Amino acid sequence: MLTPLEPVIYAGSMSLPFELVENTRRTAPERLAEIFANPGFVDYFSDHMAVATWTKAEGWHDSKVEQYRPWPMTLGTAVFHYGQEIFEGLKFYRRADDTIWLFRPEANAQRLARSAQRLDLPVLPEADFLTSVRALGRADAAWVPSGGEMSYYLRPVMFADESFLGVRSAMRVTYAVVGGPAAPYFADGLTPVNIYVTTTYSRAGEGGTGAAKCGGNYASALLAQREGATYDCSQVLFTDAATHEYVEELGGMNFFAVTKDGCLITPPTSGTILEGITRDSILTLAPSLGLTCEVRPLSLSELFDRISAGEITEAFACGTAAVVTPIASLVQVVDGELARYSLAAPCGEATRAIRSQLIDIQWGRRDDMYGWMQKVEL
Ligand code: PLP
Ligand code: COI
Repeated sequence: MLTPLEPVIYAGSMSLPFELVENTRRTAPERLAEIFANPGFVDYFSDHMAVATWTKAEGWHDSKVEQYRPWPMTLGTAVFHYGQEIFEGLKFYRRADDTIWLFRPEANAQRLARSAQRLDLPVLPEADFLTSVRALGRADAAWVPSGGEMSYYLRPVMFADESFLGVRSAMRVTYAVVGGPAAPYFADGLTPVNIYVTTTYSRAGEGGTGAAKCGGNYASALLAQREGATYDCSQVLFTDAATHEYVEELGGMNFFAVTKDGCLITPPTSGTILEGITRDSILTLAPSLGLTCEVRPLSLSELFDRISAGEITEAFACGTAAVVTPIASLVQVVDGELARYSLAAPCGEATRAIRSQLIDIQWGRRDDMYGWMQKVEL
């Protein structure tokens, strides 16, 4: 058996400072209020960004928080051609007492490191990831909205930032954290959405990049998503690439089905599915809500048959952006015929209980019994 290559790791021995550069500009409070009134899902980016550079010779260096601005790149930069890029997604939550919190940010740091290894990018140490995120929070605290389910969505990103057209791993890489205010990803977090099931397109295959959070996975899902939109579907449920018989995940969220007797079923992540932090959190907290969990392969035929028989009554999508979004129906087109499998209780008891337990922990309205929340010191 081949020994996997060692990932490119941190060449420096010091932790990275992410200090705010002097004399940056700040958006006026009146303009911020206008943005908060209709932020979309990060239609506006906040005043600052955290950045760091990695080169093969120097390792990670030149880390700082600076003005959010266009990034200077030529069109010959490798990321535009070969897509050596990874990213993360997490949120700042502003609580009623005006403190700002992160949810399991170390899990994002660890997933970014796993994605980096798969895309042959340099690993950013967990402590540096956490410093970068907190530093941006301190600089742009005014951009974290309050009220309803409004949050500030952070997007850490790492990419091949070197101009060359040979196919090889970059020797110059940029890491950045950008972000801005975000309303719930779907218009109203509790309105059930329709999901398009595809057995034509695949999101990931064995040995591929399905478990990594890399841009290519999302680009390859766009066509299926647009096809689904013609059937009024908001997301696509992908099946396994080998047989197209087993449920995997949605383009940007994990998938759960719920039986009428309170059992959550979700497929094992095993390499082709993104290891969602929300998914993991739901599996952890479900037993305290009297729900059982089955992490096992779920075939489309079992799913459709048990929905039709009234045994699977709820299903939901979950993720940082989607939180817990109830599913109204699964739509499939077979030989030109549209089949719709409607969930009997799309916004049922289990979906509601999980959703409120999770958001109550995130906004500090419930005991953080798992130690998931971290305060951002301002
Ligand atoms: N699956 C995909 C493909 C995603 O893009 C996301 C979103 O991050 C998830 C699942 C859910 O992951 P998490 O709960 O960590 O946000
Ligand atoms: C997230 O939930 O953080 C994602 O990256 C998913 C995307 C649909 C915004």
